[in-house]
Amino acid sequence: MPDNDFPLTLDAAHLAPDVTPAMIAQQTARLASAHEMLVQGTGAGADFRGWLDPLQMVTDEQVSEIEAIASDLRARSDTLVVIGIGGSYLGARAVIEALAPPGHSAASVVFAGQNLSSRYHADLLASLESKRVALNVVSKSGTTTEPAVAFRLLRALVERQAGSAEAARDRIVATTDAKKGALRTFAGERGYRALPIADDVGGRYSVLSPVGLLPIAYAGVDIRALRAGAKACADAAATTSDPLANPVLFYAAARNLLYNQGCAVEILASFEPRLHYLLEWWKQLMGESEGKDHAALYPSSVEYTTDLHSLGQYVQQGRRFLMETFLIVDGRDEPVLPLPEGDNADELGYLAGRPLTDINQAAYQATALAHRDGGVPNLTLTLPRLDAFHLGFLLYFFERACPISGYLLGVNPFDQPGVEAYKKNMFALLAKPGHENETARLREAVDKRPDGSRIRFA
Ligand code: PA5
Repeated sequence: MPDNDFPLTLDAAHLAPDVTPAMIAQQTARLASAHEMLVQGTGAGADFRGWLDPLQMVTDEQVSEIEAIASDLRARSDTLVVIGIGGSYLGARAVIEALAPPGHSAASVVFAGQNLSSRYHADLLASLESKRVALNVVSKSGTTTEPAVAFRLLRALVERQAGSAEAARDRIVATTDAKKGALRTFAGERGYRALPIADDVGGRYSVLSPVGLLPIAYAGVDIRALRAGAKACADAAATTSDPLANPVLFYAAARNLLYNQGCAVEILASFEPRLHYLLEWWKQLMGESEGKDHAALYPSSVEYTTDLHSLGQYVQQGRRFLMETFLIVDGRDEPVLPLPEGDNADELGYLAGRPLTDINQAAYQATALAHRDGGVPNLTLTLPRLDAFHLGFLLYFFERACPISGYLLGVNPFDQPGVEAYKKNMFALLAKPGHENETARLREAVDKRPDGSRIRFA
C-alpha cells in the first residue's frame, strides 16, 4: 500500500491465501457502514468519540498549559510518578518508553497504581527516598482502587519530602473528570492543579488527551509532533472508504475476515524492545474494546527475537488459530552498529561490517515467511522511523481501526462492563461500605472447597 499520505505501510502479502485484496474489496460495503457508524455517531457507544479529532479534543491553548505545567514540574522534581491503571497510564508509558526510555532523558517518569503488590510499592517508595518526586495522579472516575491506594502511599512520601501537605501542593497534579468525582473534589480541597478528562473520551482512547500528554511532555517528548502525527492519520483515514486505499479499513477487514475463518488470537509482534509498552497499550485497546458477548480475537503480543526462542515454537507449530501482525520500524534512522571484524571462531565472519539493523530486518523477514509457511497468516505495519510524529500516527491508526473492527463484530467498542465483576467481588470481600450485604456470601464462596479440590503437598 502507498506510503505517501499514509506514512505507514501495510504489507498484506503473507495474508494470502486466507485473505486476499480481492476478498477485502468484497467487504467494502460492510466497512463503509462500520466506518460511517464511527464517524456519524450512529453506532453503539457514540458518546465516546471525543478523541476522533485529536486537535479538537485538546486545543492549542490547553497544549500550552500542559507544556507549562510539565516544565514547572520538571523544575520542582527529578522524577514524576504517574499513578493510574489501564487507559490512565498505558498510553503515556508506551510513548515515553518508545521515545524517551528511562535513563535516556534528564527527567525520569515512573509508574504506580497498576497493581496492589506491597513488595512493588515498598521497593518503589524506597527507590524514591533520595529523589525529588512529583506526582501525576490520573483517574477519570476518581475512585479506582489501585491508583487511589498508590496515591495515598506516594502522597505521604511527597508531603514528608516537602515538609507539609501545603508545601507538597505544587508537586501534585490530578488528571480527572472535568467536574465530578472523588479525585476532582479532593484536588479542589487540597488546591492541586487539575487537568480535565472530557466526558466523551474513555481511558483507552485518552493517550492524546491530558491523560497522556502531561507525562509525555514531562519526559521531554514533543507533544505537538505527536498530535500532528495523529491528526495526519485522522485526515488520511477520513479520505476514503476504499479499504484498498485506506490501511485503517484494510486492517480492520483483515482481522474480521480471519476471525470469521476461525482465528482466535491476534499476536502483535515487534522486533524493537522500545515498543514493549506500545504492545501492552494495543492489547488493552483491543481487549477492552472488543472482548465482550463471548466474541473477538484475543489480543496477544510477542517480542522478537527473544520470543522466537520461546513462544516462537508454538507460533510455528502449535494449534492453528493464530494470526500475526508485525510492527516494524524501518532501520534507516536507527544507530548504525556494524558488526566488528573477528577471527571467525563464532562463525560470524560472513556478517562482519553488516549493520545490526540488517540482521534484525533479516530476522523479521525470515520469521514472517516461516510463520506464513507454518499456517499463520500475517501482515506487516512498517513505520519509516520511530519519532513523535510517526508514533502519534500509529497510535491513532490503532484507535481508529479498533472501533471499526468492533462494529464489524457487532460489539460496543467503547464500554467495558466486564471490568466490574472483579471489583464488585473485591469490594464485598474487603467489606467496603455499601457492599457488606455480599461479604458473607463471597467469603463463603472463597472458602468453600468441594471435596478433593484442595491438595496440599507436604
Ligand atoms: O480504558 C478504560 O476505560 C479503563 O482501562 C480505565 O482507564 C481504567 O479502568 C482506569 O479507570 P479510571 O481512569 O477511572 O481510574
